[in-house]
Amino acid sequence: MCGIFGYVTNKEDALGPILIAAAERLTYRGYDSVGAATINDGKIDLRKDTGKVDSVAAKYNIAEMRGQRGITQLRWATFGEPSQINSQPHLDSNGDMVGAHNGNVVNNVELREEFMAEGMTVRSQNDGETCVHAVERYIQRGYEFIDAIRLAYGDLQGDYAFVIGRANDDKLYAFKKGSGMVIGIGDGFTCLSSDLPSLLPLTREIIRPQDGEIVTLWADRVEVRSVKDGKIVAHKTETVTETMDAVQKGGYPHFMLKEIHEQPQVARELLHLLDGSPEVETLIEKMKKARHLYFIACGTSYHAAMIGSVYFAQLAGKPVIPVLAPQFIAQYAPAVGYEDVGIFVSQSGETKDVLNALEAGEKRGMACYGLANVIGSTLTKATSFCLPLCCGYEISVPATKTFTNQVITFLYLAYRMAGLDTKELEKIPELMEQTMETTSAQVEKIAGEINKWDDMYCLGYGATCSIALEGALKLKEITYAHCEGMLSTEFKHGPLSAVSKGFPIIFVAGPNDVPLIISGVNEVKVRGARTIVIAEDDSRLRSNADDVIVLPKSDASIAPLLGVLPLQMLSYHMSVMRGFDPDFPRNLSKTLTVD
Ligand code: M6R
Repeated sequence: MCGIFGYVTNKEDALGPILIAAAERLTYRGYDSVGAATINDGKIDLRKDTGKVDSVAAKYNIAEMRGQRGITQLRWATFGEPSQINSQPHLDSNGDMVGAHNGNVVNNVELREEFMAEGMTVRSQNDGETCVHAVERYIQRGYEFIDAIRLAYGDLQGDYAFVIGRANDDKLYAFKKGSGMVIGIGDGFTCLSSDLPSLLPLTREIIRPQDGEIVTLWADRVEVRSVKDGKIVAHKTETVTETMDAVQKGGYPHFMLKEIHEQPQVARELLHLLDGSPEVETLIEKMKKARHLYFIACGTSYHAAMIGSVYFAQLAGKPVIPVLAPQFIAQYAPAVGYEDVGIFVSQSGETKDVLNALEAGEKRGMACYGLANVIGSTLTKATSFCLPLCCGYEISVPATKTFTNQVITFLYLAYRMAGLDTKELEKIPELMEQTMETTSAQVEKIAGEINKWDDMYCLGYGATCSIALEGALKLKEITYAHCEGMLSTEFKHGPLSAVSKGFPIIFVAGPNDVPLIISGVNEVKVRGARTIVIAEDDSRLRSNADDVIVLPKSDASIAPLLGVLPLQMLSYHMSVMRGFDPDFPRNLSKTLTVD
């Protein structure tokens, strides 16, 4: 969700291609507008508009932009509609400063009014411009630049990262409050970005500033100061070892397909890590003693929390309340206390809804732990400890490998709580590989056959209910068709009336639920539905359903997890067949850092 990148060099350089390439690397975050600004010999050159990076870059010839300092920004509209004027970066009143942000300044409206009343030229509704004027306000009052930034930091409420430069100055300045920002130090240049992947092709020497710190970037050095007292804060430079391979498609046409195929490998790595993790034991002890145990998340991560709660009850006899993060605040936070434990689950570790729930739980003294993929994210820092999902970068907006690793983590924890031998779980990676091998062609064929439908259902029971919900979310997210996920037994309580000839209904069946699913299949089949069942081979299913997508034989606790793979592939193929880009579905963002 929005992304910023800044670059400082000591010679007048062709910055356009550097800025375009950085913007391309930030696109996975989701955006609707693109902008670039360069500063050269006291002049600011600003070009921006709505649209994709390549089209905006071509329209405004961004490649020709030169300078000693450059900023690029990708915007995902929150304050102000997507438009040229609301695109970032933004200038101050006189065009002496240029800046851009990612995240949200929640007192944007109030501040804009104050700035206009103070006589500043406010051109847009966007909160990125508000950040620029917040600094301008204190420059106008006679403060030195760093002090103006410190005071602006105090005025800007919300979660954001911000970069700003001045026409007659050889530096860029940046600070963050609640959003990610990484600084890179290269040979003859420095740079900054909302995230690490966009810096990797440029440098491996990085610094991770904290909230409440201001970074000044010269071409050959970086200085970090505290907002509170302006004193220098020492930061060690880290050498990053990850390769750019991780953020490239590795031969697949889309990141989503690559990430689906990475699932067996990341599952293997996760299981190794869990076996060696001292934190697992601590967490199990805390969870065992908990008066109430909550799994709190949003979207796909919530579906993992749901299946996790089924595993905990079925395997370890421990009841868990899985809850959507905003609903946790309303429904449970007022009643939680020191005896309760909350596990906050998030791929990004930056989902605002989840962080808000965390804050609400912590305020009441609840013990809070995390499960996140992005190490160094806010969730990993704000919880007592956070188990990593070990998936590497998940670029595609639809979550796939992070979901299966979340489910595996819960399954592993349930096994350990129940005192079961986790050796059984070591079969998971191979079972996933088999599932992909044996179901892929059939799934692609079915995708072609049902793709004309813009409405369908995905049903499951017990652990597979969460899988059905997850499959339906994937289908909705990247095919733009409506697919509702539901407990199979609920279908007869209303939705049954939607069934017409050929209407696709997908069932995900666990090995113990076959008789129940057979009833469900027949109930809709006699009314004309096309029934597709994802399950282990069973003659009863074969003789009742139109199609059976056969999963390899596995333990009853593992089977539901395997069931999600054909659903991921089905949604992928349908999306591509419809001509959409499954990696970057319209209107969506990978990291939802807003309320
Ligand atoms: O980063 P998080 O796991 O906290 O994100 C939560 C949801 O926004 C996310 O799972 C979303 O539902 C996915 N894009 C679905 O594929």
